[in-house]
Amino acid sequence: MWNADIYDSFGKERMQPSIDLAARLKDKKFKRILDVGCGSGMSTAAILSTWKDAEVIGVDLSEEMLQNARETMPQVQFIRRNCSKPLLDMGTFDLIFSNAFLQWIPNQEEIINQAFSMLKEGGVLAVQIPLFDEMPASRCITDAEKNWTQQLKGIEEEQFVVHPPLQYYEMFAEHFPEINMWTTDYCYIMDSHEEVLNFLKGAALRPHIGRLSETELQMFMNEVLTNLKNAYPARKNGTVLFPFRRLFLTGKK
Ligand SMILES: C[S@@+](CC[C@H](N)C(=O)[O-])C[C@H]1O[C@@H](n2cnc3c(N)ncnc32)[C@H](O)[C@@H]1O
Repeated sequence: MWNADIYDSFGKERMQPSIDLAARLKDKKFKRILDVGCGSGMSTAAILSTWKDAEVIGVDLSEEMLQNARETMPQVQFIRRNCSKPLLDMGTFDLIFSNAFLQWIPNQEEIINQAFSMLKEGGVLAVQIPLFDEMPASRCITDAEKNWTQQLKGIEEEQFVVHPPLQYYEMFAEHFPEINMWTTDYCYIMDSHEEVLNFLKGAALRPHIGRLSETELQMFMNEVLTNLKNAYPARKNGTVLFPFRRLFLTGKK
């Protein structure tokens, strides 16, 4: 289950990659745009402010996330769809945009193949994927998981899978004659380690919530918190610098 309120509580940090991805394409005219895995609509809002006259459709599996999106952008059609299943019936698009979604899908290559066939000639697929496995925070979670293997059995099915950047390049290069690929290191300045933990609860730690009892969850989160304190020492002024690398790819058909 996705919790829109927890996810949205770091709106500025979570929306910036969509703003940056859209900015790279802002000179292009797109008439029909699909936001795949649109969630609560933060990526959709970045699309809307860049291409004001476009017809924009957002698709996501979580009704709760979509509910938030519908409240803020009544002009957009938000549809509940399982995006790991075919979406070909939705027609063709000038831009297929996907921010922080692909890693939640097991059949990522299929989705890229499908997106290519759903693009009009000259259309663009634009994605952003957090390179979470490269970050110390990833280790902070996997180390804590080791103490809860029994309770967390099968959690892999709900966790995201991030492939190495070169693998995404190969998936794009299979189809797209024109590709742009880059990474951006964001540095989130957090007030405390608790704030870093809360940020992680919005996505990476989401599958753990619900698999552990309330007491177990508290203990598990405390373990993650201790690991975070060791991995990201607080600065002199008490803040915690939380660097976060994100991979961007655009492919033009
Ligand atoms: C990290 S959020 C990104 C949301 C939005 N794109 C943004 O930039 O804020 C990932 C989204 O993927 C959605 N999702 C995960 N698996 C999905 C699936 N199989 N089909 C559709 N959406 C899915 C979740 O519901 C969630 O809203």
